Amino acid sequence: MKIAATSCCKLQQVNPQPVWREIMEESPDVLILAGDNIYLDDNQHDQPRKLRAELQARYHAQLHEVHYAALLADLHGRGATLLATYDDHDFLGDNRYGEDHDPALRETAREELVRTFAVPMTGRDVYSVTHTALADIVVLDARFYRADPARSREDDNAILGPGQWDWFERVLRRSSARYLLVVSSSTYHDFGGECWEQYPLAFARMRRLLTGRAGAMIISGDAHRNALYDDSGVMEIVTSGVSQKSMVFGTTRKNYGIFSFDEHCMRAELRSLKAGSRFDISISLDNWQL
Ligand SMILES: [Fe+2]
Repeated sequence: MKIAATSCCKLQQVNPQPVWREIMEESPDVLILAGDNIYLDDNQHDQPRKLRAELQARYHAQLHEVHYAALLADLHGRGATLLATYDDHDFLGDNRYGEDHDPALRETAREELVRTFAVPMTGRDVYSVTHTALADIVVLDARFYRADPARSREDDNAILGPGQWDWFERVLRRSSARYLLVVSSSTYHDFGGECWEQYPLAFARMRRLLTGRAGAMIISGDAHRNALYDDSGVMEIVTSGVSQKSMVFGTTRKNYGIFSFDEHCMRAELRSLKAGSRFDISISLDNWQL
């Protein structure tokens, strides 16, 4: 089984985006778009109607990028699975959270995500679990129920909200697949931006759930780089910056991850501008650590 994952796609900076052809040539069984799949120009939307108009325009432009369109058509034609979530830039704008604003805004952003990618849903929510032969893939909604860290440092239900936390814990108790992939748009560990570590109680709650569980890991985005980290005991692989300009060097990033699985072992290849795979590691279920 093969999974491709990536995030942070800014058409305003990189157009065309041939990186999607590379991903298509991998013929993944599952493609995970881990957020910032488009970038709103207006980061201060306060009217749902205007937010909807900009989201629709940006998604429309992205869906018509020729390599992206070909990849999505290929996935569809092969019956492969597309999973997607939003981060800040395809939600309410830079570093904004659903709980801090007019509820009609977050409803609008969620509706447009569903309209664009037809993601699997849980009731009216866009968090979901997808069962494959070897892996259960949980996609979290880390934006809709989240508030500013200053408001929720002491909240055990921070980031996900009580309903999603309950659902997530139930899914984990029932999960019996060899691998458990948890997709979070924000990074879990602190890579210098928004992260779960800003919410100590939520961070600890997730840590209790995943530590020591062979085959479990977090796949995240947002950070505009590829990275691997497990110092907390929770394995995290960041794959981010599929089409972005580097601020310092002005080069075009094309970062993405290819994960392949068999009964005993996961291989993670994190690809970037550098020839081949900058990280190419295999982790066995018997010794589940980086
Ligand atoms: Fe982000």
